[in-house]
Amino acid sequence: MRPHKSLLPPMGLILMATLCGFAAEGTRPIPRLERTGNQYRLLVDGQPFLMLGGQAHNSSASNPQDLEPVWRSLVGIHANTAEVPLYWELIEPEPGKFDFHLVDEILAGARRNGLRLVFLWLASWKNGEMHYTPEWVKRDRGKFRRVVGPRGEELMILSPLCEAARDADARAFAALMQHIRSVDEPDRTAIMMQVENETGLLGTNRDYSEEASRLFRAAVPAELMAYLDRHRDGLSASLQAAWSEASFRKSGTWTEVFGELAPEAFSAWHIAGYVDAVTAAGKQAYPLPMYANVWLINPGNERAGRWPSGGPTEHVLDIWKAAALHIDLLAPDIYLPKYVETCAAYSRPDNPLFVPEVMPQPHFAANVFLTLAQFNGLGFSPFGIDNFVEKGAVTSAAAEFEDSYRVLAPLIPLITRYQYTGKLHAVVQDIDPAQVIRLGKKLAAVVEFTKPYNPEGPRGRGMIVELAADDFVVVGAGFRADFRELEGPPRDAELLSLEEGTVEGERWVPTRRLNGDELHVTLPEKAHTLRVRLLR
Ligand code: DGJ
Repeated sequence: MRPHKSLLPPMGLILMATLCGFAAEGTRPIPRLERTGNQYRLLVDGQPFLMLGGQAHNSSASNPQDLEPVWRSLVGIHANTAEVPLYWELIEPEPGKFDFHLVDEILAGARRNGLRLVFLWLASWKNGEMHYTPEWVKRDRGKFRRVVGPRGEELMILSPLCEAARDADARAFAALMQHIRSVDEPDRTAIMMQVENETGLLGTNRDYSEEASRLFRAAVPAELMAYLDRHRDGLSASLQAAWSEASFRKSGTWTEVFGELAPEAFSAWHIAGYVDAVTAAGKQAYPLPMYANVWLINPGNERAGRWPSGGPTEHVLDIWKAAALHIDLLAPDIYLPKYVETCAAYSRPDNPLFVPEVMPQPHFAANVFLTLAQFNGLGFSPFGIDNFVEKGAVTSAAAEFEDSYRVLAPLIPLITRYQYTGKLHAVVQDIDPAQVIRLGKKLAAVVEFTKPYNPEGPRGRGMIVELAADDFVVVGAGFRADFRELEGPPRDAELLSLEEGTVEGERWVPTRRLNGDELHVTLPEKAHTLRVRLLR
């Protein structure tokens, strides 16, 4: 069947936007996060981009050969972005002596496989500790001070108050960014940087060194109080609650202002300040978008220290916003069942959603639709994808990720155009066997899932894009959608045409016309894309 009817603005406009996006002839513009009011778009080569990602295991980037399964897996699941770690300990094995050969290998591997890169800078922090610092940092405890725990013991964590550590990390990160700029400017393979990994203090709620305790007993910095006061209505629920206990007082010690939350708030302020200094140094060399990822509070964690205290959890997200002005966004690693609640907490007017790690299990694959459609997310990525393809085939653990990315990849221009319009609707199976999706005032899609809900297994998943009041793209797997009128007597809307197909650039490309026995909007177990036109 021939391509027909444009889904996007006319080609002339797109072409103009593309040309305007390019800095100069022959060069690609630097990837950047564009904010328009409270809407965000990640621009790559001047065009809105969504990261259909996958993250390599922690140790896969110390030897380029270990990355081969990573590339294979990512290509196999139709990902467009690889998240790959870089290690401070290998990049700066001796102070001031840098070795970037792994960076170059990774860039070359990603390019060979048509992938973009998000680099993860594993440096002062990795999962609330300091295991990726160079040996010369680990050995010199005098210069590179550690966090002291409540019993006076030194922990495997650099103190966020240690300026020597902060400056050394910042220098290394700046050198890295300078290097990436020097080798990647023509290609822009690297599109984003994660600065540190899951910051915070694991095993203690704050640093109990003398210096830290003195600062903890002193007043909360006026700058932070002023920020919280200015943003009082938009604060996270936990911070609101803690501060309201203190009647929103505008000054005082950490304990007077934040009560029980004080050690975590204090740690957040200092860690965020440290990470911001590292980020600022890197951006000065090469200003790619940069984010910090989050170890979330797990069910059953009774207090800070069980999760890394002072990392950008929901408790102290606003303190990070006040202290870390160079960090573009705070990104939750979601391994927990409360996916929607977590996305809601991290998609705010001051924070677009990006989910850089999810559990690599079939159940989690459906969440890509929630992330992009319901929360206007910039990207999504299962963790530890190295073996998603084995013996030339996508494994069963990876099948739903592959199936979802396959149909989503061509829809990226469409999705980015409709984000923030209220016209993208996620369809994701939960315990209910059916779901009603309102499409304006006069129409609803009643979604029924094909298989019973299985909390371990794959789920019905997809999205509906409202192109017009009578024109929809329905994509996904494992459900049936009936379009029902909401005015007059209850009845199904009349189908004018039903096509299977895909989107190429701005065009709908039908591959099959459905009618007769097939005239119903059914998305089988393997994902499809349908165009549904109604007679209204
Ligand atoms: C979250 C961390 O950010 C990753 O680097 C990795 O350690 C995973 N946890 C393991 O589940």
